[in-house]
Amino acid sequence: MRVVKTISEVREFVRSVRKGGGCVGLVPTMGALHAGHLALIRKSVRQDDATVVSIFVNPTQFGPAEDLAAYPRSLEQDVAACQAEGVDLIFAPDVTNMYPEGFATYVEVEGLTDGLCGRFRPGHFRGVTTIVSKLLNIVQPDRAYFGEKDYQQLIVIKRMAADLNFPIEIVPVSTVREKDGLAISSRNVYLTAEERAVAPALYRALEQAAQAVGDGASGRDAEEIVKQTLEGEPLFKLQYVEAVHPETLEPRGDQGTPMVIAAAAHLGSTRLIDNIKIEGRDQC
Ligand code: PAF
Repeated sequence: MRVVKTISEVREFVRSVRKGGGCVGLVPTMGALHAGHLALIRKSVRQDDATVVSIFVNPTQFGPAEDLAAYPRSLEQDVAACQAEGVDLIFAPDVTNMYPEGFATYVEVEGLTDGLCGRFRPGHFRGVTTIVSKLLNIVQPDRAYFGEKDYQQLIVIKRMAADLNFPIEIVPVSTVREKDGLAISSRNVYLTAEERAVAPALYRALEQAAQAVGDGASGRDAEEIVKQTLEGEPLFKLQYVEAVHPETLEPRGDQGTPMVIAAAAHLGSTRLIDNIKIEGRDQC
C-alpha cells in the first residue's frame, strides 16, 4: 500500500491498474477512520481489483461556526487501518493540492440540498459535491462508496453523478451501529460519558417512529413521535426531524411509506445525525 499526496501519483497508480485490466473503487473519507468507514473499505476490497481511500478534511464543507480546526485527525492510525484491510492506495492531499490559489469552481445540486441538514448547514453540500466531483475526476473509479448514515449526502451525490454523467456506480453502504444502536460517527469522540450514555435515544426514537409507520402512521405522525420521545431526554436538543421520500427527499406529510425519517440533534456541543428507512408496502 502506498500513501500519496499528489494528483499525478494517483493518476499514475490508476493507469497501472487499468493497464492490467483491473477495476478501481474509491472510498472518500475525511479520515478518523472507524467501523463505518471500514465497512465501505471492505465492500470495495471485495468488489474491486484496487481500492483507493482518500483522506482529506475538506474545508469547503464546514461552515464558519463549525468544527474544521477541531475535526479529529489521525493519519497514522488511518494508514494502519487501511493497510490491515487491504487498501492499495491512500490519497491524502494537502489543502493546496485540492484548492490551489485562484480556485473558483463549485458544484451545486439544487432542490435536494434545501431541506434536512441543508437547511441548517448552508453551503455544506456545495462543499461536499465540489470535493467529491474533484475526487471522482482525479481517481476516475468504477465505483465509489458512501454510507447511508449521511443519507442526504448519498442522495445528493447520486443525483450529481447522474446529472454530470460520471460513468461511476455510487454504492450505498448500511449504517454501522454500536451495540446500543448509536450510529458510529467520527464526532462520537466528542461526547462526554453522560452524553454517550443517552446518545442511543436518537435511534430508539427513530425506531419507534418507524414501527408506527409500519403500522400505518403518516410522515407527520412519525415526526411527532420522534419529537415527543426526545422531549423526554433533557440532554438532547433536537435540531430537526423530517419524514421524507427516500429518493426525492420531499416531505411525506400525510403520506406513509416509502419513507426515510431523518433527524439531527445536539447533545451538548456535539451534533448527531441519524435516519431510518421504511420501504413501501407490497401491494396486494
Ligand atoms: O462523508 C464524508 O466523510 C465527507 O462528506 C466526504 C464524502 C468524504 C467528502 O468530504
